[in-house]
Amino acid sequence: MIKLIAVCGSARKQGNTTKMLHQVIEGAKSAGAETEFVNLFDLNYKDCISCYACKLKNRASFGHCMLNDDLKPLLQRIEQSDVIVLGSPIYYGNLSGHMRSFTDRLLFQYLDYGAKGRGPKPKNFKTALIVTMNGNNETYVKRGIRDTMVNFSEMMSHTLGSCELLTFTNTVLFDDYSKYVYQMPDIKEKSSRVEKIPPEDLKKAFDLGFRLIKS
Ligand SMILES: Cc1cc2nc3c(=O)[nH]c(=O)nc-3n(C[C@H](O)[C@H](O)[C@H](O)COP(=O)(O)O)c2cc1C
Repeated sequence: MIKLIAVCGSARKQGNTTKMLHQVIEGAKSAGAETEFVNLFDLNYKDCISCYACKLKNRASFGHCMLNDDLKPLLQRIEQSDVIVLGSPIYYGNLSGHMRSFTDRLLFQYLDYGAKGRGPKPKNFKTALIVTMNGNNETYVKRGIRDTMVNFSEMMSHTLGSCELLTFTNTVLFDDYSKYVYQMPDIKEKSSRVEKIPPEDLKKAFDLGFRLIKS
């Protein structure tokens, strides 16, 4: 059975990123996949310490991160999966810090440094990157966030296997905007939105999950 693992880089367990990843999981399940959801905020782990053990010739550490913390069993489970979906909120124009720390560890162990065909990547995974942000599509492009995410998804394609990028802009931040200091122009629309996440966006995430398994 094809296994899809979804990794979330938002602490908000009812947040936009979590909900989108669960839609992906539902889509994948409906296509017959085995699935797993992991929230990085449930794990204790370090950043990459650039020890380069994963690049040492003729060593068991080649192609594997040698740090011994909560990411070790997760990285092992990822290696046994076929499809990897990463989800992150946009924080200051980039992935969340937790997601960056995680992807440094996940991606770098498989980086081939030009050794085409002899790199440490165990297989060609199918992958996807989902990002959610408060700003609108215009901000996504104008602030260079789209370029940053396209670059990152290309690195995922190179290091893990073909990556599809799915971006959700214009997310709702709060259940009740009246409790918070927020005076952005979109407050009226967002505070009165009945469906916090538009159904068409949920469907896009569901369809992605289905597609990743079926195609
Ligand atoms: C520290 C921090 C930085 C943020 N930076 C941005 C940003 O640069 N651009 C943006 O549009 N939204 C930004 N946001 C808003 C989140 O990206 C947005 O609310 C996202 O959908 C939250 O996802 P979640 O509900 O899964 O936590 C930021 C939020 C936080 C807490």
